[in-house]
Amino acid sequence: MAIKYELIKTCKQSGARLGRIHTPHGVIDSPAFMPVGTQATVKTMSPEELKMMDAHIILSNTYHLFIRPGHEIVRKAGGLHKFMNWDRPILTDSGGFQVFSLSNMRKIKEEGVEFRSHLNGDKLFLSPEKAMEIQNALGSDIMMAFDECAPYPAEYDYVKKSLERTTRWAERCLQAHARPQDQALFAIVQGGMYEDLRRQSATDLTSMDFPGYAIGGLSVGEPKDLMNKMLESTVPLLPAGKPRYLMGVGSPDALIDGSIRGIDMFDCVLPTRIARNGTTMTSSGRLVIRNAKFAEDFGPLDPECSCYTCKNYSRAYIRHLIKADETFGIRLTTYHNLHFLLQLMRDVRQAIMEDRLLDFRQDFFTKYGLFEG
Ligand code: GUN
Ligand code: ZN
Repeated sequence: MAIKYELIKTCKQSGARLGRIHTPHGVIDSPAFMPVGTQATVKTMSPEELKMMDAHIILSNTYHLFIRPGHEIVRKAGGLHKFMNWDRPILTDSGGFQVFSLSNMRKIKEEGVEFRSHLNGDKLFLSPEKAMEIQNALGSDIMMAFDECAPYPAEYDYVKKSLERTTRWAERCLQAHARPQDQALFAIVQGGMYEDLRRQSATDLTSMDFPGYAIGGLSVGEPKDLMNKMLESTVPLLPAGKPRYLMGVGSPDALIDGSIRGIDMFDCVLPTRIARNGTTMTSSGRLVIRNAKFAEDFGPLDPECSCYTCKNYSRAYIRHLIKADETFGIRLTTYHNLHFLLQLMRDVRQAIMEDRLLDFRQDFFTKYGLFEG
């Protein structure tokens, strides 16, 4: 077994899980947020900086590395860890989602998906077997099964056919996986916004005994309540002894609300993406640093933050850098936003330890300006 989930305790107040995920490249404290490094780099951050903020795991993408530089080059480099100089755990997404969100002209068949590269229009093909070949070459600690993320909204009949194909694809991934000893393959539960289809997907996939389970097809434009409802009808069907990963979710409120529903892992481009247009997350809500009101504000981005950016630089300076299009500005906001979410997860874990995650949620939401009850 490539990974092991160790349940440390369950929060008596909320039901959230505190755990440790043991992988060949080290331990991940959970619930965990995974910074996204799509192209074998977390945009503008060095691995040393990611360690300084104590990221335990990062995510990268099969789709992008397949198109450029090609997985054979990464294999020749000795795998993704060596290629990018990151020696902690890596999770790779399977390409299923990116094919649907990035490339045009895609044709879904039972065999796989035919699509055109978003870079040069080349005709390419991804299938369960190909996604396994690529991820085996990358050597990630956690690999994802090749899936289809149905659009939202979508008709019941379409979603049902799609999830059933995703389940057949998961079975093919299991068969094609060449390195089960040191790479853990997670299946992805789909089923759109239909509770019975979510339950069908979860039941069928758990009977196949994967080392971990993800929940996909959420945070695709649906209301928050609907996502939470889907989690509530899915998570209880997943095995307690294995990690559960909610894909593509990373707003502070969703990290807390997902943890409360038993999720152990999250990833999202949100903190890094908004940082590059000068938006930061702070303990009192979002702050748009370009705003004129910060021109002479010599205080830190977030007075409650202890990160490298907040210890050393002012809002006025960061605003100046970003307005002047200086790269250092977006490095500082990226560092802060990632630190903010990693710190939020440290706080969530501490609150679980002390059986007070619902109280923590109340306080956090009130200060962040999210309060809805
Ligand atoms: N990232 C966010 N959502 C999804 C999903 O449904 N499937 C995959 N493979 N990746 C995702
Ligand atoms: Zn900070």
